[in-house]
Amino acid sequence: MSEPARPSIPQTDPRANYLAHKAEIDAAIAAVLEGGRYILGQEVAAFEAEFAAYIGVGHAVGVASGTDALELALRAAGIGSGDAVFTVSPTAVATVAAIERRGATPVLVDIDPTTYTMDPNRLEEAIRSVRRSPSSTVPRPAAIITVHLYGHPADMTAILTIARRYDLVVIEDGAQAHGATWRGRRVGAWGHLAAFSFYPTKNLAALGDGGAVVTDDAGLAERVRLLRQYGWRQRYVSELPGVNSRLDELQAAVLRVKLRHLDRENERRRQIAAAYTRLLADSGLGLPVCRPEAEPVYHQYVVRTPLREALQARLTAAGIGTLVHYPQAVHQQPAYAGRLPLGGPLSHSETAAAQVLSLPMYPELTDEAVRCVAEVIVGRPFDR
Ligand SMILES: Cc1ncc(COP(=O)(O)O)c(C=O)c1O
Repeated sequence: MSEPARPSIPQTDPRANYLAHKAEIDAAIAAVLEGGRYILGQEVAAFEAEFAAYIGVGHAVGVASGTDALELALRAAGIGSGDAVFTVSPTAVATVAAIERRGATPVLVDIDPTTYTMDPNRLEEAIRSVRRSPSSTVPRPAAIITVHLYGHPADMTAILTIARRYDLVVIEDGAQAHGATWRGRRVGAWGHLAAFSFYPTKNLAALGDGGAVVTDDAGLAERVRLLRQYGWRQRYVSELPGVNSRLDELQAAVLRVKLRHLDRENERRRQIAAAYTRLLADSGLGLPVCRPEAEPVYHQYVVRTPLREALQARLTAAGIGTLVHYPQAVHQQPAYAGRLPLGGPLSHSETAAAQVLSLPMYPELTDEAVRCVAEVIVGRPFDR
């Protein structure tokens, strides 16, 4: 079978980001290779300090992926079998998979259809309903994982108020929102813990897998630090039954370079989003909404339309890449359908899955390419 032709405007382009910083990245990689220390050395330690300072928390612990970061955050917070963890269904499946890997029970709550993030009202209803009728399938409310989907922060003010009312641990899934702020404070600095992914397409991206747990709590950070390497404080002496989930030196060196450019690249994403919003104002598509408390980082620029398949086909025919994040909410996917407890109807989650389309979005996307995408969508050239 022949490979499909590469679109002339791809939806995402990690290679372009590497090329934008090639000299710095190549030098950083060469220094690690020549230094001879490849696991848990000075690059990981320096990246952890720099990333914690960037988010505005006391501690960051580098781990092997965003999925592991979620699982280790849950584990450090003592969440496991018998615990209900409230989260959303339109998310990377990793959010839910990490909860199940802990032996805890995900309870899925509907989203606010304007921001695609957890609806705090639905959250509180779900918590009340689980507390009213605890059962073996839906156990004790213990934690919330909020997802800052597409780079727009969830309503952390309302979610933390509810968490305090019911004494729940809050873990932020910041995998799509490095640098986004809610009320001027970075996401990742709101919850008890937060998990980040550095998958190659993320706003802060490694050249392979990587992740981090961040927290202001020294005790929780220490637990994650032990758990990521067999529970060792002292080599070969396991204080806890841990795992191997280490961020390696090469990825940390790359991430240190990219972190220096993150704010500028997020600003470029915001410019691209503003241009799309201006050019598509009369297109009839649903366009991203930004809450006044939020400064999003547009990991994705997501439009919505009941005619999604036709729109996607038109863009594909014009050589423009798009993706659907996500074509099925987690509770609709074969591995989970009919099996997970739902914290109420998930109608907004299901409508979003049927209608959303992610347009090309990455910092190296040119103004000309943005205009070209918009012209194909509206079906006519713009005045120049
Ligand atoms: C919202 C969200 N959570 C978790 C993950 C998992 O991260 P990783 O792929 O690094 O395991 C991702 C990325 O795929 C994500 O987008």
